[in-house]
Amino acid sequence: MDKFVVRGGNPLLGTIKVSGAKNSALPCMAAAILTEDEVILENIPQVRDIETERKLLESMGAEVELGYGRAQHRTTIQCSVLSDPEAKYEIVKTMRASSLVLGPLVARAGIARVAVPGGCAIGGRPIDLHLKGLEAMGATITQDHGYIEAKADRLKGAHILFDKITVTGTEDLLMAATLADGESVLENAAQEPEVTDLAAMLTSMGAQIEGAGTSTIRVKGVSKLHGTRYRINPDRIEAGTFIIAGAISGGDLNVDCCNPHHLEAVIMKLQECGVRLDVGKESIRVRSEGKLQAADVSTVEYPGFPTDMQAQYMALATQAKGTSVITENIFENRFMHVSELTRMGANIKVDGRSATVRGKSPLSAAAVMCSDLRASASLVLAALVADGETILDRVYHIDRGYERIEEKLRGVGAQIRRMGEVFGKR
Ligand code: UD1
Repeated sequence: MDKFVVRGGNPLLGTIKVSGAKNSALPCMAAAILTEDEVILENIPQVRDIETERKLLESMGAEVELGYGRAQHRTTIQCSVLSDPEAKYEIVKTMRASSLVLGPLVARAGIARVAVPGGCAIGGRPIDLHLKGLEAMGATITQDHGYIEAKADRLKGAHILFDKITVTGTEDLLMAATLADGESVLENAAQEPEVTDLAAMLTSMGAQIEGAGTSTIRVKGVSKLHGTRYRINPDRIEAGTFIIAGAISGGDLNVDCCNPHHLEAVIMKLQECGVRLDVGKESIRVRSEGKLQAADVSTVEYPGFPTDMQAQYMALATQAKGTSVITENIFENRFMHVSELTRMGANIKVDGRSATVRGKSPLSAAAVMCSDLRASASLVLAALVADGETILDRVYHIDRGYERIEEKLRGVGAQIRRMGEVFGKR
């Protein structure tokens, strides 16, 4: 199991580039199921979840090519035949976003079998709303031997009102609706940029979609979708993580190839903390002398402060003067990073969905354990300012969603390296 060794204390200086959004790439790859034609996706991040999705699509009979060399970050997918429309437990258990194939499979093949996703480190994360929506579209849902099966000769357009805002649920049903018979209306839909990204890709395949990026999405079903070539948007969470890296390290960092519009809530919050941010068209320059002020944060759906930035913000809050109350409203049990940050010297008390961080606390290096993707990012950020050499174990969590983060951070002056499993370095 790989580990990271991080020696804290260096301010980050220079330019760091943001990759394509993992959470857009995953549904866009699933959308390739909707057509027999070739789909080419560009700006695909080279992260483990993408490799997992490739395996998932291949296990169903799709041909998937992940580009190397000059074609790096491009993937070509062709689902001419879907010989086995099933998402197996071995894959679903490692990546819950596998449930994104449910809608497109039923829409295209008339049947989908998807392993029931088990509990997950950051809460229950059920898919009941995906299933309720598919039922409303005329699918028959059954469950046996740990698998959910959805069947429909042809899905019918439906009026779906989500009880709760769900990102992948919105994406799943949006994909299903593109090939349904008639019009579908998705209300209380997620407005995240990744939903808009998917809708733009589907539109380029011939889908008829209105209102993506708002809470009401209308889809007129068509009988067939065609192939496309589509470029994935930049990853707003990776960009936000780098902005905090610049701020926490007291650096002068240019976060390049990002979309600042997608980061408004994060930008405003960091300005409140005293971080200097110069926002360009596709870049954000972050400057800080390390004098940070505490500020409260509540996670909410887009365009509010993202839950996927909560752990990284908490690392910053440990270095801010005063008390910051951080409230997690989207997921239960998303404070696993707290115990590790505390072991590094942070003063954090959790009460239900809120964590109270008192700063500024000097952090000292320790051996810490990554528990999920964003928690791992928060530990890397803390390690950048800790006194001494932090060793992060189980960095496979971070590899799920950050492309070569250690190389990118090293490029702007961080002292971070990856250790292979058996003593050796890589
Ligand atoms: C997506 C993102 C994830 C992000 C999250 C919230 C991907 C691949 N992942 O996850 O990084 O943290 O959005 O922005 O895009 N819920 C139900 N029933 C359902 C579906 C969801 O009760 O059928 C609940 C969940 O338990 C959670 C809330 O709704 O409390 C939001 O979850 P959801 O938006 O679905 O998260 P994901 O789409 O899994």
